[in-house]
Amino acid sequence: MQNLDVAIDLGTSRIRIYLPGKGVVLDEPAVLTVDRDTDEIVAIGTEALKMQGKLSERLATVFPVRDGVISNYGFTETLLTEFVRAVCGSKVFMPRAVVCVPNLITELEQRAVCQALHNAGARKVCLIGEAIAAAIGADIDITVPHGCMIVDIGAGTTDIGVMTLNGMASFDSIKVAGNSFDSAIIRYMKNKHDLIIGPVTAERIKKEIGCAVPRDFRTYTRVSGRSALNGLPLSVSIASDEIAEALEEHTIAIVRRVQHVLENTPPELVGDIYTDGIILTGGSAQLHGMDRLIERKTKLNVVVANNPSNCAILGTGAALKYMDSYDNDEFKTSPLQFAKY
Ligand SMILES: Nc1ncnc2c1ncn2[C@@H]1O[C@H](COP(=O)(O)OP(=O)(O)O)[C@@H](O)[C@H]1O
Ligand SMILES: [Mg+2]
Repeated sequence: MQNLDVAIDLGTSRIRIYLPGKGVVLDEPAVLTVDRDTDEIVAIGTEALKMQGKLSERLATVFPVRDGVISNYGFTETLLTEFVRAVCGSKVFMPRAVVCVPNLITELEQRAVCQALHNAGARKVCLIGEAIAAAIGADIDITVPHGCMIVDIGAGTTDIGVMTLNGMASFDSIKVAGNSFDSAIIRYMKNKHDLIIGPVTAERIKKEIGCAVPRDFRTYTRVSGRSALNGLPLSVSIASDEIAEALEEHTIAIVRRVQHVLENTPPELVGDIYTDGIILTGGSAQLHGMDRLIERKTKLNVVVANNPSNCAILGTGAALKYMDSYDNDEFKTSPLQFAKY
């Protein structure tokens, strides 16, 4: 297994790995369960996520990637090492890696990502911006002089970019996405229903009845938690319209940022976007009505890409072919960012 190439999407909520010829071979939550006293790792990935909110006092759940960047360096490295080993096997001989990162990552954060990959065994590391990767993964030809707007709504960040000629003409990234939606639902439940719930329940509510604009047919779900008034178990029925209200502040913040990027895009490219519309990618693009909300506010056509959660990793995988130009010093014609670390 020499000269193996791997593509990695280091998301806030999930890490995905792609191998050429095999496709997406790993899709695991970016989470660990650790012993508070000894820092010993008890579980990683899916197994650790199942334990979230149900731990004994001695243990803690750690999400080492916060808002799309590494906040806990050691644990991120552990996750990457374990996951790369799981898909490449022990025979792996220092693969080349392309890693998908948020649009607005700082030099320091770039260095941390590359270092984690080097320590996990990668010989060469290239970075690719999330919006570009998502555009390639959504089957858009970004090599031509034609503007295309991607809005990737993940867990930690929303990455917005207008792509043309293998690069971005305008872009932005905000720390408002799926995790903010979950926090807003937790706050709403406490303020409106005196009900205390955890992030796992909030995410379930969001996926079941969540919406960015009220649904045509109102739906309901039952929510159980702890009463904020007397601390006893409490269960209430929640309507989808309430969740639209709870999420409004954040969904509107995303729309405003999309409008801002459009305002800063050269007019010829805006013309292309007017014709083609906006493409939504990322797991949170599946929030019911998110496309309709952006459509209403921008007066542009908006479509959710096929399999939106996987666009970034598929695009990162497709970008592996540019690794050769890394070797040949042809970086200017590639969507990859050269990683110097
Ligand atoms: N059906 C759905 N409706 C709304 N949000 C969803 C749905 N499915 C997944 N999500 C959200 O998508 C986010 C994960 O998206 P993803 O693009 O994988 O994020 P990241 O790349 O930041 O890890 C999570 O916040 C998750 O709750
Ligand atoms: Mg992502």
